[in-house]
Amino acid sequence: MTNNAKDVTREDFDNVMVPNYAPAAMIPVRGQGSRVWDQDDNEYIDFAAGIAVSCLGHCYPPLVETLQKQSQKLWHVSNLLTNEPALRLAGKLTDLTFADKIFFANSGAEANEAALKLARRYALDKFGEGKDQIIAFNKGFHGRTFFTVTVGGQASYSDGFGPKPGAIDHVDFNDLAAVEALMSDKTCAVMMEPLQGEGGIHASNQQFLIGVRALCDKYNALLIFDEVQTGVGRTGTFYAYQHTDIKPDILTSAKGLGAGFPIAAMLTTDRIAKSLSVGTHGSTYGGNPLACSIAEVVVDTVSDDAFLTQIKVKSAIFKDALAQINDQYAIFSDIRGEGLLLGAELAEQHQGQAIAIMNQAAQAGLLILVAGANVLRFTPALNIPEHDIHAGMKKLSLAIEKWLSA
Ligand SMILES: Cc1ncc(COP(=O)(O)O)c(C=O)c1O
Repeated sequence: MTNNAKDVTREDFDNVMVPNYAPAAMIPVRGQGSRVWDQDDNEYIDFAAGIAVSCLGHCYPPLVETLQKQSQKLWHVSNLLTNEPALRLAGKLTDLTFADKIFFANSGAEANEAALKLARRYALDKFGEGKDQIIAFNKGFHGRTFFTVTVGGQASYSDGFGPKPGAIDHVDFNDLAAVEALMSDKTCAVMMEPLQGEGGIHASNQQFLIGVRALCDKYNALLIFDEVQTGVGRTGTFYAYQHTDIKPDILTSAKGLGAGFPIAAMLTTDRIAKSLSVGTHGSTYGGNPLACSIAEVVVDTVSDDAFLTQIKVKSAIFKDALAQINDQYAIFSDIRGEGLLLGAELAEQHQGQAIAIMNQAAQAGLLILVAGANVLRFTPALNIPEHDIHAGMKKLSLAIEKWLSA
């Protein structure tokens, strides 16, 4: 299936696309399971899954079938009408979680935007003016709209676009004392990823989560969990908060929810949902039947106990293989993460080289990710076959050997 007469090439990217990305040299043209092929038919093992998105691998047959079937029935109706897949999907999400009510959107940033607007509106409805402070965390990531990027914990992503949304404060992740020092009756929400993904694969500790929940209760502030990356099985439970005894007030989900088809959801309780009354918020495409029918299959597949159990098994295989690579090359100072959201931090002498190693891996036929300059990140399909994990790790080992000897 080599595409010899290429009508588009990587050079076209620089000619016709806005330069906000720097994509790899190869262009993928097809995928199956955890394997991807480029324009020259080179094969890659995929440990990235489109940044924790393609959770059932590429072209998962039940999803292809659902897409084909629904595409012949109904694609889009707008939010002036509801539709069957959206109602069924919302029911499945409420059955699986703390939530009673769902708002559908198209991306993680949009779901987070809805969550932040809802928190502000709820505080205004219930407590009046002045309760608008949002507390978030350094290195956190919540998307690229202006509100979400400002709540995110990297000022460099929100600098340079004019006046930022106000009343947003940041403290270090897992620093309960710092949260407590900032909190007051003016706080309307605390927003966090239960495990920071983009910021370097940093888990929250239980005491911190319990403490933040208690502070939110004390000051009538809402606890928002951004589970855009950690959700839909990624950490071994359907949502990561389900590893703990605490519940958020609002949760956002995207990425894996559509397994590659754009869809996002904001989940909340009856009490809070009332503040998004008719006309307060909306989305043209959010909750369209095509996306929802696919997400229904994803949710049914991933929420199955046996499916969630095999994620934990594969996580252990991944961590063991990374430890073995480290025994050989002493390249990592830490291997961490939950389920199949894993990070390997580079040892002191290799700091800053994560992108170079990612590129070397791609040359060896392996797609991996980075989380910052010092961490290799692995977010494969949740159903990646064991033999693909072993084959990919061989490629990673070769890539590291080559990179170290260069
Ligand atoms: C935790 C988290 N929140 C939000 C987002 C933004 O999602 P999207 O790119 O779909 O807007 C991301 C994307 O990486 C994420 O990891």
